[in-house]
Amino acid sequence: MNLPAIALRRHAVKAYDASKTLEAERVEELLALLRLSPSSVNSQPWHFVVAGSAEGKARVAKAAQGPYAYNLPKIANASHVIVLCVRTAMPDEHLQALLDREQHDGRFKDAEARAGQHKTRLSYVDLHRQQLDDLRPWMEKQVYLALGTLLLGAAAAGIDATPMEGFDIVALDAELGLAEQGYSSLVLVSLGYRSEQDFNARLPKSRLSAEQVFTRL
Ligand SMILES: Cc1cc2nc3c(=O)[nH]c(=O)nc-3n(C[C@H](O)[C@H](O)[C@H](O)COP(=O)(O)O)c2cc1C
Repeated sequence: MNLPAIALRRHAVKAYDASKTLEAERVEELLALLRLSPSSVNSQPWHFVVAGSAEGKARVAKAAQGPYAYNLPKIANASHVIVLCVRTAMPDEHLQALLDREQHDGRFKDAEARAGQHKTRLSYVDLHRQQLDDLRPWMEKQVYLALGTLLLGAAAAGIDATPMEGFDIVALDAELGLAEQGYSSLVLVSLGYRSEQDFNARLPKSRLSAEQVFTRL
């Protein structure tokens, strides 16, 4: 697998073929990538809402009105749309759930190892919560790692995708009842197969030059 070639070939799809849907197996593979995405101190401050039905996509599409209407067809005509959500807080309940899961997965040889992991994780959470006062942006960074993982994974699997920040967060949070669950929507990813109307497929890739973005020491 030539990953740079895949990265060169992928692009943000602007128009989907509504008649083409992803096989269930492909969807599960992409969801596995999201779940396996790394995060600082394994904090996993995320939740993913997966819309694969017309009804589900219509609910997400309610957030693509007014100034965001340009994204509506990318939601409505895609096979699936994933709403990547971030935690609005880092409650002790979540920290305990992480520990319980790590224990279930066999990460701790004894109670001391479990306590040590909790202490380390809490020290980072508190660093961002108190000293740096950037808990929310720190958690958002973790979600964007999942976004990158998903985009590259989809491209590697030959699946088209569109990341979208252009939607009404307040409207989508209300539609999906996210605040009550302790989350907020952050970014959307449409998945499916491009249509002939996808003008971006015909445009050359554009990135700053290697000289501009790399400093080699
Ligand atoms: C976080 C993020 C948000 C984006 N939001 C939108 C969006 O709302 N609508 C859209 O059509 N494209 C959106 N894009 C696509 C970018 O414009 C695109 O990735 C960028 O121009 C690079 O082009 P390429 O992905 O085709 O290589 C977004 C991309 C990212 C990474």
